[in-house]
Amino acid sequence: MAIDNSAFGTAPEDRDGEGMTAAGTGRAATATAEAGRGRTAPGPTGGVLFGALSEFKKDTLRLLTEMQRRYGGIVRMKMGPYLVHQVTGPEYVKHVLQNNPHNYVRGRFYRGFNLFFGRGMLTTDGAEWRARRAVSQPFFHRQRLRAGGPVITDTVSDLLRSWEEPARTGQPIDITDDLMRLAMGVLGRLLYGVDLRDYADRLLPVVRFSLKAMIITGEIEQMLPRWIPTRYQRQLRRYQNVLNGVMDEIIDLHRAGKGSPDSVVSALLASTNPVTGKPWTQREIRAELKTLFLAGHETTGCALTWTLYAIAQHADVRRNLDEELARVLGGRVPTVADLDNMPYLRQVVDESLRMYPPIWLFPRDAVQDDVIGGYHIPAGSTILVTPYAAHHNDATWENPEAFDPERFCPAHKGRDRYAYFPFGGGARKCIGMDLALLEIQLAVAMICQRYRLSLVASHPVHPAALVSLRPQPKVFMKISPVEQTQPAEELASRS
Ligand code: HEM
Repeated sequence: MAIDNSAFGTAPEDRDGEGMTAAGTGRAATATAEAGRGRTAPGPTGGVLFGALSEFKKDTLRLLTEMQRRYGGIVRMKMGPYLVHQVTGPEYVKHVLQNNPHNYVRGRFYRGFNLFFGRGMLTTDGAEWRARRAVSQPFFHRQRLRAGGPVITDTVSDLLRSWEEPARTGQPIDITDDLMRLAMGVLGRLLYGVDLRDYADRLLPVVRFSLKAMIITGEIEQMLPRWIPTRYQRQLRRYQNVLNGVMDEIIDLHRAGKGSPDSVVSALLASTNPVTGKPWTQREIRAELKTLFLAGHETTGCALTWTLYAIAQHADVRRNLDEELARVLGGRVPTVADLDNMPYLRQVVDESLRMYPPIWLFPRDAVQDDVIGGYHIPAGSTILVTPYAAHHNDATWENPEAFDPERFCPAHKGRDRYAYFPFGGGARKCIGMDLALLEIQLAVAMICQRYRLSLVASHPVHPAALVSLRPQPKVFMKISPVEQTQPAEELASRS
């Protein structure tokens, strides 16, 4: 997540919701106000480094990692007109996410997310957030997710089947969209009782647009006041309408009694918003569906893409994985229970999320003055919690730019909890973490059982710091069938 464009528009950017409030911030820790002012955190002097947003935009990941390496776990800097502190030191991250979270709210840098997320679980705080999270939480209970294993493997089987043709012809394909569709399929079936792949042709362009629209790209059209009817503004409106339209169709299906009774949609329709004491409105329900859809499929699709990319680049990792898959599964479709017996697979996924954390940064605004690690954090300033820089910190990780799943073997346990946080932490930890991990492991296992993916050298890939850490420009892979000595048919014969 990154820098929104709200600072540059003059009309309200929140066209779906009613703008951000500081709801719930009244509980901001009073203790912090008494904590004294503390020192000024280290950082580039003069505050000019990030004064130029274009410089930030050009090489965001390298700059943030460099700041952390040069100045340490907390770095003070100016970004445009804002004072920000990048926080990557484990004890500082823990302070913001877990020890004093009420002082750190979504704030100004989250406002751009309202454009597509609306005011939902991701973009609200306090009582409003709690009410929304409570409705969806039961759908993420571990037992329930484990029971959803066959839905995941069925959806992966469809993907394997769709790759038969490119595997036969040897024609490289861009795997990113296919993996996004997979993530949509799983999410829709498990949470909405609807197969979102049916809507993918409409949704994928919206997602591509929204990933840029919600952050600063430095393009002039984003900086113009929003009431000027530019081509960009018309596009924005069109894509918002498409997304809202799909979510309305799903809600209407449920209102008409044709949806699943066991879905987040039905749960919202059957309950009231405890903050207003009234049934959830269409807009509120839509915001919740958009939130789960956008936060859930894009991150998981990115993580899957990066994991397959890393495996394709490391023959030794692929060999170890193949050995584990053959030993534990012997060619059959994995179950959720099998995952307990495949520790190497989990290490590969963990390492992928270290190296390429899909949510590479998430911001907060300080409600009151605070002190973090002896350093003063002024009220109203912004904290950038940056998993990417933390995960590439050479003080914590030996040779951080190398992909090495051995970092996550049991012998290396004992690392600080907040040295590695691809899913955030504290009460706002990702609600979909267990679902994402299940899905990624099952999908990687099934794909590697069936196919060998190799990168096309003429199409290099790099991480782009959009809302998520997107592999760009595309991930072209050649797909070839794995030589089968096992009951291969089974892998593609479900569904
Ligand atoms: C590899 C996949 C995923 C990654 C890396 C990821 C990462 C994160 C992170 C870092 C946060 C915390 C953001 C913050 O504190 O500001 C978050 C929050 C969230 N995630 Fe995920 N996520 C993933 C998958 C999912 C899935 C599958 C879903 C739902 C189906 C989901 C739904 C959400 C929601 C709704 C929130 C907001 C939670 C709240 O504020 O209470 N995520 N995610």
